[in-house]
Amino acid sequence: MQVMAHRGYSSQAPENTLAAFKRAIAFGCQWIELDVQLTADHIPVVIHDQTLERCTNGVGQIGELTFSELTQYSAGHWFDQAFRDETVPSLEATLQLAKQHQINLNIELKLYPGDDETLLCQRVAAVIDAVGIAQEQLLFSSFSVTALAVMQRVMPAIRRGVLWETIPSDAFEILEALDAFSVHCDYRHLDEPQATAMKQRGYALYCYTPNHPLDVAEHWRWGVDMMITDKPHCYSPQLTGD
Ligand code: G3P
Ligand code: MG
Repeated sequence: MQVMAHRGYSSQAPENTLAAFKRAIAFGCQWIELDVQLTADHIPVVIHDQTLERCTNGVGQIGELTFSELTQYSAGHWFDQAFRDETVPSLEATLQLAKQHQINLNIELKLYPGDDETLLCQRVAAVIDAVGIAQEQLLFSSFSVTALAVMQRVMPAIRRGVLWETIPSDAFEILEALDAFSVHCDYRHLDEPQATAMKQRGYALYCYTPNHPLDVAEHWRWGVDMMITDKPHCYSPQLTGD
């Protein structure tokens, strides 16, 4: 079964930290999903929320702090004292890790209202170029069709996946315009006819974020290729799930 570690191995280490990525690598995951956005000084960083409160011991908005201000805070203490030295990682450090271990990354371009899609894409592209990671190791995904369209222009060789909670009626027009590789949808809203249609048109089909294999037992049969999960071990036959 193909699984992707959602925000790293986020059930065993604080989400979107190097510790979570290293755990995923050690477990044997081939794919890691992460969320990227920009600091005030336009450094791409790996964090999900628009604000610091849930996953760090800081307060405020990611986009209003410089990278050096942001990394003064712990991004692991909230999860467990053992991770107190984790900080919000740069995309650059994350790409270096992926390059070193030849792990594939699903880079979710995370945009909140008012964010500049073009700027985020340009800054992400610059870091990818600087690190020199193989383009085949990367996949861009986003709920923002605009961001994916920018990436189609800026880094056309890197695959693109569209994120949808619910697959819309004009899905194929959007996918064709983006020359998309994959569809990433909420497993709770996907049905068999939609899955069949996606597979018939040749798209890879991924579901987020099922943490219990029984919730997606049917989905594999429908043709879903990969589950994006916080709990990769639950899908592994050699380990007991929780
Ligand atoms: O990429 C799948 C999933 O991460 C999308 O939702 O909110 O967890 O980033 P979210
Ligand atoms: Mg995400």
